[in-house]
Amino acid sequence: MTALADMDLGAARVFAVNLDGKAMAALLRAEVKQQIGRLAVGGATPGLAVALVGDDPASQVYVKGKVKACEEVGIASTLRKLPDTTTQDELLGLVDAWNADPAVDGILVQLPLPKGIDQRAVIDRIAPTKDVDGFHPHNLGLLASGRPGLVACTPAGVMRMLSVYGKAYGWTPAGKRAVVIGRSITVGRPMSLLLTNADATVTVCHSRTPDLAGRIGEADLVVAAAGVPQLVKGAWIKVGAVVIDVGIHRMADGGLCGDVEFDAARLRAAAISPVPGGVGPMTIAQLMRNCALAASARRGIAID
Ligand code: GUN
Repeated sequence: MTALADMDLGAARVFAVNLDGKAMAALLRAEVKQQIGRLAVGGATPGLAVALVGDDPASQVYVKGKVKACEEVGIASTLRKLPDTTTQDELLGLVDAWNADPAVDGILVQLPLPKGIDQRAVIDRIAPTKDVDGFHPHNLGLLASGRPGLVACTPAGVMRMLSVYGKAYGWTPAGKRAVVIGRSITVGRPMSLLLTNADATVTVCHSRTPDLAGRIGEADLVVAAAGVPQLVKGAWIKVGAVVIDVGIHRMADGGLCGDVEFDAARLRAAAISPVPGGVGPMTIAQLMRNCALAASARRGIAID
């Protein structure tokens, strides 16, 4: 790597503001806990039902974090662990039962699902009013048409981080050039729609995008959700850009890294989210908020 003294840092501040997702998530959970208190006054304890199919180690860690957050904020969680031999019909039957259960406000089927189960069929079966992941085409359609609905937790959490940063530093996505790397329904697509709705000029990049470095070099805001370790080189970042790293990868030495070359990027960025401790905790806190929103809407009790 180029020595710091030899780098062309332009007008960069050394170092970027750290977008501390752990701290922001704690604040969001405290806010949601208050909202759930208002639901309790109305006689409702929100319920989240989670299905974990198979034994993917990362999924087990994520689901544990979600159940723990439910306990903290006062959501009643139900976790169903199912073997990887579970059939699609069995999983659809469970979703149907949760759709019909009045105590269940939110349904989450942890992804990825084992081979042989059609992910789309499962997502499509979840009642849109209980779709706290925001992956159902109904909710993605509402987002695409700029209407309120349940929004996927990771991109909603990113918007929250940008809002907290924006309030502190006088920054807004409006009028900015944003580059989103990745086009999944879990992150990239809803992220690009949220930023479009927030008046950014959005470019969606992916594995077939030529000159990724050039596109990123033009961006005032980079959201990296490519799923490729350290794909985004620090030297590509425009000086003064805001950088959000959605990736999380285990390295050969046992440590974690994101989709962005963090050490080099933070020399050029105005603000950057770390990995771990950035987007990850915000995703879970936003899931809690989605459960509160779903319960509020379904039970007709205002929480804000
Ligand atoms: N797997 C990785 N992230 C997510 C998520 O946000 N929701 C679900 N259901 N599965 C995931």
